[in-house]
Amino acid sequence: MRTTRREFFALSGAVALSADAAPAKAHFFTPFDPQARTLLATLSLDEKIGQMTQPDQLFLQSLDDIEKYHLGSLLSGGDSDPKTGNDLVSWTELYERYQKRALAAKRRIPLLYGIDAVHGNNNLIGAVCFPQNIGLGCTGNAKLVEQCARITALEMKACGVNWAFSPCLTAPQDIRWGRTYEGYSQDPAVIAPLGVAVTRGLQGKSLNDPLSVVGCAKHFAGDGGTFWGTGQPKGNGERYPLDQGDTRLDEATFRKLHLSQYIPSIRAGVGTIMPSYSSWNGIKCSANKRLLTEILKDEMGFEGFLISDYGALQQIPAANFKEQIAISINAGMDMVMVPEKYVDFFTLLKENVAENKVPMARIDDAVTRILRVKFAMGMMDPKTDLMSIPSATKAFGSAQHREVARQAVRESQVLLKNEKKTLPISRSAARIHVGGKCADDLGNQCGGWTITWQGQSGETTKGTTILAAMKKAISPSTQIRFAKDGAGAEGATIGVAIIGETPYAESAGDRVDLHLAPEDVAVVQNMKRAGIPVVAVIVSGRPMLIEPILDKVDAILASWLPGTEGDGVSDILFGAFKPSGKLSFTWPSGDSTSLHIGDPGYKTLFAMGHGLTY
Ligand code: GLC
Repeated sequence: MRTTRREFFALSGAVALSADAAPAKAHFFTPFDPQARTLLATLSLDEKIGQMTQPDQLFLQSLDDIEKYHLGSLLSGGDSDPKTGNDLVSWTELYERYQKRALAAKRRIPLLYGIDAVHGNNNLIGAVCFPQNIGLGCTGNAKLVEQCARITALEMKACGVNWAFSPCLTAPQDIRWGRTYEGYSQDPAVIAPLGVAVTRGLQGKSLNDPLSVVGCAKHFAGDGGTFWGTGQPKGNGERYPLDQGDTRLDEATFRKLHLSQYIPSIRAGVGTIMPSYSSWNGIKCSANKRLLTEILKDEMGFEGFLISDYGALQQIPAANFKEQIAISINAGMDMVMVPEKYVDFFTLLKENVAENKVPMARIDDAVTRILRVKFAMGMMDPKTDLMSIPSATKAFGSAQHREVARQAVRESQVLLKNEKKTLPISRSAARIHVGGKCADDLGNQCGGWTITWQGQSGETTKGTTILAAMKKAISPSTQIRFAKDGAGAEGATIGVAIIGETPYAESAGDRVDLHLAPEDVAVVQNMKRAGIPVVAVIVSGRPMLIEPILDKVDAILASWLPGTEGDGVSDILFGAFKPSGKLSFTWPSGDSTSLHIGDPGYKTLFAMGHGLTY
C-alpha cells in the first residue's frame, strides 16, 4: 500500500515546526544529475560497485586497494586512529594519504571520508568537544547548536575529513538505552529543529563551501524506540536489553515518533542518511524496502544516499553474506559500511548483479545518488582543493571555539532543585568542599565517542574539568578543597557533590538499574553529615534515579555530558550566568515500574520543560 506524499505528512503528524525549522522543499542534489549520469555512463560495473563500498581504514589491506576496488569512501570508526598518533598532524597525514591515492587513480573520483564527529571532531585529541546531544536538547537554542555544528565542520576540515555521521535524530523512549545521550529529546518536535540546525551548520549555506562537510541523519528509523529484552544478541545466548532491538509500533505512531523529525532535515538538504541496526516490527531497517525506498525515498523525497551502519548487513536474517547484500541493496541501501569484508562485499555484489539478483538499475540509482552528493560538494571539480584547509587548521581547538562550547554548556545546564537559594554559590565563600568522581575528570564529563569509541575516565584530551573551572572562578580569599569521597567537609561553607556516570557507548551503555552508584550517594552523605548546604551536580548521559539523595541535597543541577569546557558549569554554579536549560526528557521517579515512556508504570519526578533559574 503506497501512501501519497500528502497522506504521509498527515499520517506522520509532521511536527508543528517554526518556518525556520521546516524549510521549504528544495532540490539540493538532483540538479547535479546531468553530470552524475554522464560520469555514470562511463563507469564499469567494478567502478560502480567501488563507489558503493566503504571500508574502515583500519582494515585496508593495501593503499592500492583504493584503486584496485575503485573505492568511493573510507571511514574511521570509533577506534580507527592514525598509527602515528592521535594528533592533528597525524590525522591530516592519514586523510591526505588516502585522498591523494584516490586522486591518483585512473577515474580520479575523490573519497568521502566519514567519521563520528558527533559532539565536535571528538576522535582527535585537542578538538573542542561540545555537550552531547542530550544537553544541547535542553538549550532550546537552534542557532547556538548550528554554531557548534559549524565549528565541528571547521575542526574536521582542519585535517581534511569531509563527512560527519551526524545529526542523530533518535527519539529515545527508554533512558536505560546506552545511546540516550545521542538524542536531543524524547520528543520529535524538539529534535526536528535541532536536526536542521546541525545539518545547516555542517553543510553550510552551500555544500561546495570548502569549509563544509556533508552530514548524515541517523539512525533511520526507530533506533530509540526498541522494546525491553529485544536488544542485539551478546553471542552467549543472551541479549542486550535495548540496543539494536525491535521497535514494535503501528505505522501511524512509528511515523509520528520516529520519522517526522527527519522531514525538516531532508528539506534542509542533509546529504546522507544511515539506516538503523534496529528493526521495525521484526524487520531489520537495513532490509526494509518499504521503509528505505517507498517511505524515505519515494514519499519523503530523500535525494541523497543511504549509508549502512557498521557491518549492519551481516545482521540481516539470510542464508549468507551474498544474500544479505542482495536483500539490503534491493531494499534501497546505496553505500555499505563494510569495515573489514570489503573485498567479499565487492565480489559478492558483483555476483549478485551477474545473476540478476540485484538489477543494474538499482546499482545505477545508488551510484547516481552517491555521485550527485559528490558533485554537489564540488569534489568532482579538478580545481577544488580536497586537502586540509589551512585556515581551519589554524582555528582547530581555538579559544574562540571553546568560548562557543562554553556558552553551549551554560545553556544546557538544567536546575532541577534549589532550596533556600543555595545556588548560586558566592565566589568569595570562605570554603567550598568539592567531591565526586566527575568533579575533576575530563573523560567523565565528555562521555562516550570521545577520543575512543567508548570514551574513558581521566585526562583523555585537552579541556577544563568542572573543578579546575571552579578554582579559576573563586576569589583569592576563598578556599576550595577536593575529596573524591566528599569526606572532610566539616567547617566548609558549602559542599558540591559532582557525581553521575562514567563513559560508555551503544550497547555497553544499556543499563537495568539507573540508580546513582553507591559511591555517589556516599559523597552526598559525607557532606550532609558535616551539616552544610549540599549541591549535587549530576554528570550523566541520561536522567538517573536520584531518590537516595533527593531530600539530602539543597540543590540539584543536571549537567549532562558537558564536554571539554567545564567553565560553562562553573558559570552557572557561581551565578555568572543564570540557568536557562529546560528538560528535553521527562525525569522518571524511582518508584516507576517501567522506564519506557508511555508505559502505565512510568512515573514522572520532573516533567519535560522543567528547569529553574535564579
Ligand atoms: C556505529 C554506530 C553509528 C556510527 C557507525 C560508524 O556502530 O551505530 O552511529 O556512525 O557505527 O562508527
